Amino acid sequence: MLKYLTYISRQSHVITDKNLKELLRISRSNNSAIAVTGMLIYFQGSFIQYIEGREDNIDWLYNKISQDKRHQSITQISSGFSKERAFSDWSMAFKKLQSNEATAILGYKNLETEQLFDDEKKLEVHPALRLLNNYIRNL
Ligand SMILES: Cc1cc2nc3c(=O)[nH]c(=O)nc-3n(C[C@H](O)[C@H](O)[C@H](O)COP(=O)(O)O)c2cc1C
Repeated sequence: MLKYLTYISRQSHVITDKNLKELLRISRSNNSAIAVTGMLIYFQGSFIQYIEGREDNIDWLYNKISQDKRHQSITQISSGFSKERAFSDWSMAFKKLQSNEATAILGYKNLETEQLFDDEKKLEVHPALRLLNNYIRNL
Protein backbone atom coordinates (compact mmCIF):
# COMPACT_ATOMS: atom_id res chain seq x y z
CA MET A 1 0.00 0.00 0.00
CA LEU A 2 1.09 3.53 -0.74
CA LYS A 3 0.66 6.40 1.64
CA TYR A 4 -0.53 9.77 0.41
CA LEU A 5 -0.55 13.08 2.20
CA THR A 6 -1.73 16.59 1.36
CA TYR A 7 -0.85 19.79 3.18
CA ILE A 8 -1.19 23.52 2.71
CA SER A 9 1.27 26.18 3.85
CA ARG A 10 2.17 29.85 3.46
CA GLN A 11 5.45 31.11 2.14
CA SER A 12 7.46 32.79 4.90
CA HIS A 13 8.99 35.35 2.51
CA VAL A 14 8.67 36.22 -1.17
CA ILE A 15 9.70 33.33 -3.39
CA THR A 16 10.94 34.24 -6.86
CA ASP A 17 10.46 32.12 -9.98
CA LYS A 18 14.16 31.29 -9.81
CA ASN A 19 13.78 30.05 -6.21
CA LEU A 20 10.76 27.98 -7.22
CA LYS A 21 12.64 26.45 -10.13
CA GLU A 22 15.49 25.45 -7.85
CA LEU A 23 13.09 24.05 -5.25
CA LEU A 24 11.48 21.92 -7.95
CA ARG A 25 14.79 20.74 -9.36
CA ILE A 26 15.93 19.50 -5.95
CA SER A 27 12.54 18.04 -5.06
CA ARG A 28 12.24 16.15 -8.35
CA SER A 29 15.69 14.71 -8.02
CA ASN A 30 15.20 13.71 -4.35
CA ASN A 31 11.71 12.34 -4.92
CA SER A 32 12.60 10.19 -7.87
CA ALA A 33 15.38 8.61 -5.80
CA ILE A 34 12.83 7.43 -3.21
CA ALA A 35 9.97 6.85 -5.70
CA VAL A 36 7.82 9.67 -4.35
CA THR A 37 5.42 11.24 -6.85
CA GLY A 38 2.92 14.05 -6.47
CA MET A 39 2.00 17.60 -7.23
CA LEU A 40 2.89 21.04 -5.95
CA ILE A 41 0.63 24.01 -6.51
CA TYR A 42 1.75 27.56 -5.78
CA PHE A 43 -0.82 30.29 -5.61
CA GLN A 44 -0.41 33.81 -4.22
CA GLY A 45 2.07 32.82 -1.56
CA SER A 46 0.39 29.53 -0.62
CA PHE A 47 1.59 26.03 -1.33
CA ILE A 48 -0.58 22.97 -1.68
CA GLN A 49 1.34 19.74 -2.03
CA TYR A 50 0.25 16.16 -2.54
CA ILE A 51 2.87 13.45 -2.08
CA GLU A 52 2.55 9.68 -2.40
CA GLY A 53 4.97 6.81 -1.90
CA ARG A 54 6.11 4.24 0.63
CA GLU A 55 4.87 5.09 4.13
CA ASP A 56 8.31 5.48 5.70
CA ASN A 57 9.43 7.71 2.82
CA ILE A 58 6.32 9.91 3.03
CA ASP A 59 6.62 10.31 6.81
CA TRP A 60 10.32 11.12 6.48
CA LEU A 61 9.79 13.57 3.61
CA TYR A 62 6.86 15.36 5.24
CA ASN A 63 8.91 15.75 8.40
CA LYS A 64 11.73 17.26 6.34
CA ILE A 65 9.45 19.55 4.32
CA SER A 66 7.62 20.75 7.44
CA GLN A 67 10.92 22.01 8.89
CA ASP A 68 11.72 24.06 5.79
CA LYS A 69 12.06 27.74 6.69
CA ARG A 70 10.72 28.86 3.31
CA HIS A 71 7.17 28.20 4.44
CA GLN A 72 5.11 28.37 7.64
CA SER A 73 1.67 27.52 9.05
CA ILE A 74 1.88 24.05 7.56
CA THR A 75 -1.41 22.22 7.93
CA GLN A 76 -1.92 18.64 6.91
CA ILE A 77 -5.30 18.44 5.24
CA SER A 78 -5.50 14.74 4.47
CA SER A 79 -3.58 11.49 4.43
CA GLY A 80 -4.37 7.86 3.82
CA PHE A 81 -3.48 4.77 1.88
CA SER A 82 -4.06 3.75 -1.68
CA LYS A 83 -3.22 0.79 -3.91
CA GLU A 84 -2.39 2.94 -6.92
CA ARG A 85 -0.46 6.10 -7.59
CA ALA A 86 -2.32 9.09 -8.94
CA PHE A 87 0.94 10.50 -10.33
CA SER A 88 2.90 7.61 -11.74
CA ASP A 89 4.60 9.68 -14.43
CA TRP A 90 5.89 12.70 -12.57
CA SER A 91 8.28 13.00 -9.68
CA MET A 92 6.56 16.30 -8.81
CA ALA A 93 4.07 17.98 -11.11
CA PHE A 94 3.97 21.72 -10.64
CA LYS A 95 1.48 24.47 -11.31
CA LYS A 96 1.84 28.10 -10.47
CA LEU A 97 -1.67 29.48 -10.57
CA GLN A 98 -2.28 33.05 -11.66
CA SER A 99 -5.21 34.70 -9.91
CA ASN A 100 -7.36 34.66 -13.04
CA GLU A 101 -6.57 30.97 -13.51
CA ALA A 102 -7.50 30.15 -9.97
CA THR A 103 -10.99 31.54 -10.37
CA ALA A 104 -11.42 30.33 -13.94
CA ILE A 105 -9.62 27.04 -13.46
CA LEU A 106 -12.46 24.94 -14.74
CA GLY A 107 -12.49 26.83 -18.02
CA TYR A 108 -8.90 25.97 -18.85
CA LYS A 109 -9.04 23.04 -21.19
CA ASN A 110 -5.32 22.35 -21.26
CA LEU A 111 -4.54 22.78 -17.62
CA GLU A 112 -2.78 19.68 -16.33
CA THR A 113 -4.50 19.89 -12.97
CA GLU A 114 -7.89 20.12 -14.57
CA GLN A 115 -7.25 17.10 -16.76
CA LEU A 116 -6.19 15.21 -13.69
CA PHE A 117 -9.19 16.27 -11.64
CA ASP A 118 -11.57 15.49 -14.47
CA ASP A 119 -10.60 11.85 -14.24
CA GLU A 120 -13.36 10.54 -11.99
CA LYS A 121 -11.65 7.18 -11.58
CA LYS A 122 -8.61 8.81 -10.05
CA LEU A 123 -10.79 10.91 -7.77
CA GLU A 124 -12.48 7.77 -6.46
CA VAL A 125 -9.15 6.17 -5.70
CA HIS A 126 -7.69 9.30 -4.14
CA PRO A 127 -9.85 11.22 -1.69
CA ALA A 128 -6.92 13.59 -1.19
CA LEU A 129 -7.22 14.72 -4.78
CA ARG A 130 -10.92 15.33 -4.34
CA LEU A 131 -10.11 17.52 -1.38
CA LEU A 132 -7.44 19.35 -3.32
CA ASN A 133 -9.84 19.86 -6.18
CA ASN A 134 -12.47 21.34 -3.86
CA TYR A 135 -9.86 23.57 -2.32
CA ILE A 136 -8.79 24.92 -5.70
CA ARG A 137 -12.33 25.41 -6.89
CA ASN A 138 -12.98 27.52 -3.81
CA LEU A 139 -9.90 29.75 -4.15
C1 LIG B 1 6.70 24.00 -0.44
C2 LIG B 1 7.87 23.09 -0.40
C3 LIG B 1 7.77 21.81 -0.96
C4 LIG B 1 8.86 20.94 -0.95
N1 LIG B 1 8.72 19.70 -1.52
C5 LIG B 1 9.79 18.86 -1.50
C6 LIG B 1 9.69 17.58 -2.08
O1 LIG B 1 8.65 17.16 -2.62
N2 LIG B 1 10.81 16.80 -2.05
C7 LIG B 1 11.97 17.20 -1.50
O2 LIG B 1 12.94 16.44 -1.50
N3 LIG B 1 12.09 18.42 -0.94
C8 LIG B 1 11.04 19.26 -0.93
N4 LIG B 1 11.17 20.49 -0.38
C9 LIG B 1 12.50 20.93 0.09
C10 LIG B 1 12.88 20.32 1.41
O3 LIG B 1 12.26 21.03 2.46
C11 LIG B 1 14.42 20.39 1.58
O4 LIG B 1 14.87 21.72 1.46
C12 LIG B 1 15.15 19.56 0.53
O5 LIG B 1 14.58 18.29 0.40
C13 LIG B 1 16.62 19.42 0.94
O6 LIG B 1 17.26 18.71 -0.05
P1 LIG B 1 18.71 18.11 0.22
O7 LIG B 1 18.56 17.22 1.42
O8 LIG B 1 19.03 17.41 -1.05
O9 LIG B 1 19.58 19.31 0.49
C14 LIG B 1 10.08 21.37 -0.36
C15 LIG B 1 10.15 22.64 0.21
C16 LIG B 1 9.08 23.50 0.20
C17 LIG B 1 9.20 24.87 0.78
